[in-house]
Amino acid sequence: MLNPTTAPVPLAPQSILSIRGLSKSYSGGPRVLDDINLEIAPGEIFALLGPNGAGKTTLISIICGIVNPGEGTVRVGGHDVVRDYRKTRSLIGLVPQELTTDAFETVWATVSFSRGLFGLPANPAHIERILRQLSLWDKRDAKIMTLSGGMKRRVLIAKALSHEPRVLFLDEPTAGVDVRLRQDMWQVVRELRAGGVTVILTTHYIEEAEEMADRVGVIRGGRIVLVEEKSALMRKLGRKEMVLTLQEPLAAVPPAFGLYDLSLSGDGSELTYVYDSQSERPGISRLLEDLSVAGIRLRDVTTRQSTLEDIFVSLVETRS
Ligand SMILES: Nc1ncnc2c1ncn2[C@@H]1O[C@H](COP(=O)(O)OP(=O)(O)OP(=O)(O)O)[C@@H](O)[C@H]1O
Ligand SMILES: [Mg+2]
Repeated sequence: MLNPTTAPVPLAPQSILSIRGLSKSYSGGPRVLDDINLEIAPGEIFALLGPNGAGKTTLISIICGIVNPGEGTVRVGGHDVVRDYRKTRSLIGLVPQELTTDAFETVWATVSFSRGLFGLPANPAHIERILRQLSLWDKRDAKIMTLSGGMKRRVLIAKALSHEPRVLFLDEPTAGVDVRLRQDMWQVVRELRAGGVTVILTTHYIEEAEEMADRVGVIRGGRIVLVEEKSALMRKLGRKEMVLTLQEPLAAVPPAFGLYDLSLSGDGSELTYVYDSQSERPGISRLLEDLSVAGIRLRDVTTRQSTLEDIFVSLVETRS
């Protein structure tokens, strides 16, 4: 008979990154990180959004063992980043915010050398694979100083991937990268994830989080003010807006329309209706009917779904 106390207990899926109660101040200054708690699942793409000085780079630097944690613990793959530094560092690839490259080296040499730094045997096939993936194969023999800024950034990604890390940190990966290259880079990140790599990126481009992330965290003044599945976040906070362009301008919103959340702009010729797709408020078709009955004629109608950018701006504004 099966003894219930020895029955196997299903294990909770282990976080690849686990941050508990992390606080940090630089040399006695104010706290730049304040009680950060965060769990990252293997294989997810996590975007950390926050204004300048919020603490994003400090947080990444602590995880990568470059900056000492103050209070709290950080584990990567179950290992403590202070006690088991060599182990955790080998699991991590870091693309730093600042561009630092060895100007006189070739692409091939610098990426191969990075792998060697982790004590791994040479693996030309792996280096070739990542250079091809990052569209750097044609540039493998070029000296780094001859490359454009966007290419240099991709060299940094190649270096970060040279030792086959399980977690990749991208600190502002597409700052100063043009739109087409940015999309290429997003594609690379998706491919990495498909290959099982967990990706944590910081960004100012909300569009980037919206495009890429499975989950989004917002950090402000050293505190994480929100962590949410991106899709849930967009659903929960996503409002829709319908702009009605009128044939004849109005002096004011007619009192009979007080029921609707309407505002008048554009010298009285634009009515904006804000609604929530989940709510029970009077629907669009009724509004259009009521307008027609009131003799208000429309020239044009457009709708807009609020974006992560609106959500982010409202978060940063309302919590200040
Ligand atoms: N080495 C340091 N010594 C003292 N203070 C520091 C140091 N590095 C960062 N700080 C301070 O810590 C705070 C967080 O900085 P951090 O670089 O982590 O922010 P960030 O979110 O990465 O900003 P950005 O978006 O501008 O890159 C800032 O107030 C910054 O001035
Ligand atoms: Mg930073």
